[in-house]
Amino acid sequence: MSTMQLSTSEEVNEYLKQQNQLDLLRFITCGSVDDGKSTLIGRMLYEAQLVFEDQVASLLKDSKKLGTQGGDIDFALLVDGLAAEREQGITIDVAYRFFGTDHRKFIVADTPGHEQYTRNMVTGASTADVAVILVDASQGVLTQTRRHSFLTSLLGIPNVLLAINKMDLVGFDEAVFDQIEADYRAFAEALTFKSITAIPLSALQGDNVIERSSRTTWYSGPTLLGFLETVEIAADNNAASFRFPVQWVNRPHADFRGFAGTVAAGSIAPGDAVQILPSGKDAIIHEVVLFDKSLPKALPKQSVTLTLDREVDVSRGDVIVSAEQPCEVSDQFDTSLVWMDQEPGYVGRGYDLMLGSRRINATLTDIKYKVNVNTLEQSPTRDLALNDIGRVTLSLDEPIPFTPYSDCRDLGSFILVDRFSKTTVGAGMVNYGLRRAQNIHPRSPTIDPKGRSQLMGHVGKVIWLTGLSGSGKSTVADAFERRLFDQGVHSSILDGDNMRTGLNRDLGFTEGDRVENIRRTAEVAKLMAGAGLVVIVALISPFRSERSMARELLKGQGFAEVFLDVSLEVAESRDPKGLYKKARRGELPNFTGIDSPYEAPESADLRLDTSESSIDACVDQLMELL
Ligand code: ADX
Repeated sequence: MSTMQLSTSEEVNEYLKQQNQLDLLRFITCGSVDDGKSTLIGRMLYEAQLVFEDQVASLLKDSKKLGTQGGDIDFALLVDGLAAEREQGITIDVAYRFFGTDHRKFIVADTPGHEQYTRNMVTGASTADVAVILVDASQGVLTQTRRHSFLTSLLGIPNVLLAINKMDLVGFDEAVFDQIEADYRAFAEALTFKSITAIPLSALQGDNVIERSSRTTWYSGPTLLGFLETVEIAADNNAASFRFPVQWVNRPHADFRGFAGTVAAGSIAPGDAVQILPSGKDAIIHEVVLFDKSLPKALPKQSVTLTLDREVDVSRGDVIVSAEQPCEVSDQFDTSLVWMDQEPGYVGRGYDLMLGSRRINATLTDIKYKVNVNTLEQSPTRDLALNDIGRVTLSLDEPIPFTPYSDCRDLGSFILVDRFSKTTVGAGMVNYGLRRAQNIHPRSPTIDPKGRSQLMGHVGKVIWLTGLSGSGKSTVADAFERRLFDQGVHSSILDGDNMRTGLNRDLGFTEGDRVENIRRTAEVAKLMAGAGLVVIVALISPFRSERSMARELLKGQGFAEVFLDVSLEVAESRDPKGLYKKARRGELPNFTGIDSPYEAPESADLRLDTSESSIDACVDQLMELL
């Protein structure tokens, strides 16, 4: 194998042309630096025909400058996966390396640190055909081997190459190799791989990486590169039903309106009947356009622009599908979710979900179980911690088009993004849509809101008081309600302690329970405000995320967030119920301000300091706000 130096654009084009004839294998590597992962990749890249990443970058610039030269499109294809992730704003740390041999070209997705594997695997490498799972021969199958294998299986990657590395440390002992392979196969029995191939290696010394090793005469299988060069690549399923998530609407001038995106599955040609989802509108494909050329057909993974025979509403996030076999539309899903954030995922909390080119509010409504990756046992839980893998129900604000992950990876995988930090907190796969959602038909009120407010003499509203225990929420709420009552305003107080003796009796003070406490209270407030009452909520409600969820939920009703802003010292000195003392003595765990967080509002509608202003003055301000 020769090492390639590409310095002129002609050479680039020649290289790409030649590479274009070869098929492409995508694979991922799982394992840690300790397992010898970088050494292994390094050796493969060194010994194969290698294109360094920075070379790729400058080559790309070169071919861009050259305009639409022959090689241009190929390169776009090569970096395609990466570009899509960038566009979605996914925060991942994956290094893609491209290299080729005379038989095949390769893209390997690799991550620098241990923490990032999960994220990489789920977001960066889900299109891989092979997972190279590294095992240190002196260590055997470890928890992380099992974790990576479970994820690999969850992602539907069909082939596992079990790279039993550092064979030099165990004297190239066949028995050690056999034992590790047997352990692994026993574990993997419950997983869904098409093939498992174990190879004895020493990445450091080069045994069985590219060349057969004379030190493993007992081994008759392929070398690492030999396997990668010959393993069967799943063919793109052109026969599948057509799926096309719209990335953007291309309207350069008044008489052209095209929908740009990448074919996720199936193929499309002018004259084909399609449906736009979620609206369900029908149309016929007028043209399939690539740059300024009209194509007879577009195939999976091709980025094209489609025009339709009629004016229909299509926007980013919609999916154009085959009219004969449209995909499903739902707003509730059974999913497999991998949690990737330090901050746990709680039942009841909302996140931004990104699926295809759509971004939408999603609430984690149920965690059926989480999986112990060592034993594959399922156990009940109310939250997902970093690296947990759970079976989770998600509920969306609106129905969206989707496919199960097993049918189409692009329309069946998603990520969850924290609304405040904008970091990726989870990645998952849709197992199926839940029909329950389709069988529930919420009724709109038949009494018009105007008539109701005439009867009541005012409109319904929610005034949400948040602050530490002892900040004066209940006192202010009582005085406020008294003033409202005197003025003939119908009102109700939803106080934390009261809610917790009834509807929320089952909830404690863990973060997960507080999330649920706030969610339920917001839902009750919504019903009451809908009935025309002025609802005063008095809840510590320590999390920004849930207060913002309440605001969103109640935006139709009139919602104001009021921050009772007193310092911890003041609240603690008041200690009306003696709870701070208990907490300080260690008799009351998870107490807000002591060992459970309070996230102060950044943009409350009103800020009240009961240590500076009298209760009366606070109520004056609330009346003004109303
Ligand atoms: S929230 O955090 O879920 O919004 P909520 O307002 O319902 O809290 O309940 C707070 C009340 O519960 C406090 O006023 C206090 O009387 C009581 N309480 C008991 N244990 C705790 C605790 N660990 N942390 C905070 N409040 C507690």
